[in-house]
Amino acid sequence: MAQKKRDSWGSRLGIIMAVAGSAIGLGNFLRFPAKAASNGGGAFMIPYFVSLFLLGIPLMWIEWTLGRYGGGFEHGTAPGIFHSIWQKNRFIKYFGVIGIFGPLVIFIYYTYIESWTLAYSFFALTGKYGKLADQASMQSFLSGFQGVSKNQYFNGIGTAYLFFLITFILNIWVIYYGIKGGIEKLCKWAMPLLFIFGLALMIKVVTLGAPDITRPDWNIANGFGFLWNPDFSALKSAKVWLEAAGQIFFTLSVGIGVILTYASYLSKGDDVVLSGLTAASTNEVAEVILGASIIIPAAFVFFGPQEIQSIARSGVFNLGFVTMPLVLNKLPLSALFGFFWFFLLFLAGITSSVSLAQPAVAFMEDEFDITRKKAVTIFGAVCFILCQPAIFFLGRGVVDELDFWGGTFFLVVFATIETILFAWVFGMEQAWDEIHKGADMRVPRVYKFIIKYITPLFLFFILGMWFWQQWIPIILMKNVSTADHTFIQATRIGLLLIFLVLVVLVRIALRRKKALAEQLR
Ligand code: ALA
Repeated sequence: MAQKKRDSWGSRLGIIMAVAGSAIGLGNFLRFPAKAASNGGGAFMIPYFVSLFLLGIPLMWIEWTLGRYGGGFEHGTAPGIFHSIWQKNRFIKYFGVIGIFGPLVIFIYYTYIESWTLAYSFFALTGKYGKLADQASMQSFLSGFQGVSKNQYFNGIGTAYLFFLITFILNIWVIYYGIKGGIEKLCKWAMPLLFIFGLALMIKVVTLGAPDITRPDWNIANGFGFLWNPDFSALKSAKVWLEAAGQIFFTLSVGIGVILTYASYLSKGDDVVLSGLTAASTNEVAEVILGASIIIPAAFVFFGPQEIQSIARSGVFNLGFVTMPLVLNKLPLSALFGFFWFFLLFLAGITSSVSLAQPAVAFMEDEFDITRKKAVTIFGAVCFILCQPAIFFLGRGVVDELDFWGGTFFLVVFATIETILFAWVFGMEQAWDEIHKGADMRVPRVYKFIIKYITPLFLFFILGMWFWQQWIPIILMKNVSTADHTFIQATRIGLLLIFLVLVVLVRIALRRKKALAEQLR
């Protein structure tokens, strides 16, 4: 049987842009400012940076290295990669299922939220929410759009569904054209454009001064102060540390499985040290400089020190789709800046969602030897069906449930497995050599110690804290209203079924590969 050639990146800039594109997402512009403002302001940055240096950067290097290593064996996803590293262990490939399951689950709800940003870009240009001036009416506009309630703005979910279809098709279209022809091309123009929009918005916000002359203390310096003034008492809370670590995983797209897949399209001698660091640094600039300088400081100057407290705690959807449009409505050229904001979110979203789709597609291509076009068609059909509960039962907590399992819990579990495999099974000496193949810079030696001891211990600590503080209430649905229990249970059963189907597919695929290898001998 003729071996089909795996796809590859067109250039080094291409993969850096693609990994940065995967990392820079809704998490940078919505999740980060909300987390920072509600978890101790400037003090949040201490656990945030500790997590960046002890978890984020090491995992970035681990995933780039494991991905490139696995690509050498024609494996682009965790089951095959984990199996190549620990062939004697019959079960390790099943742990790798998380690296396909996690991104698939995130993709299911992420694409829907991404479609809101496309819809709001359109609404900004057409002035659809332009006359709304208070939280209540903007909130009602959003819930009407989401189909959660019927009101004068929307009489059903039709508009949201149309934008979902457009967004979904765009995603499928990009991955249909593959790594070089689709994802790389998209990221190469989307990332610079995103930075231009982000810079334009940041400059606009920073130069706002104090727009209301009767309230001189509602000024931009105090807006930044609200976000950055440290509340050191927050450092005593385990929750703040967990949230900071969780943000690092989410924002860098590590622990998900997508970087493994992207890196599997590298060649053996391609650098991973400098490229990984560059992509992570680009993400941090977008998060800590752009993400932190737009929404919270801007909301402060228009809503003042009292209201900003509840705004900061109102959650990411409210911040992005209620507070920010209200702020934008108060600016000159509001339609243009509104478009910049929502289209920036859309670009950030789509460059992340295509990366979330790729592991499932790569799994079918690599392990079942089917063509990309066929794999993308199957992925599109299955995902389209899986997206429906997130769309129609949004108000019943389905998206939050998917986000908890796919976007939070399994990230930490997967990261822990990867680190143990890399540092302890592969072995730190071999791992260190593998990282440095083709490297353009050396990893500081201290990271040999960090990756072997500190990163896994930190991960175990986070998992332990989770079980200690949150496991029971989550399993028992303590924070979910009784009316929604059935929906949450159904979501959990659905997730379990997806996981089991993937386990069966991994079993079939790897047995098939083994049989093929034996035939060739
Ligand atoms: N890393 C992506 C984000 O921040 C998933 O949204």
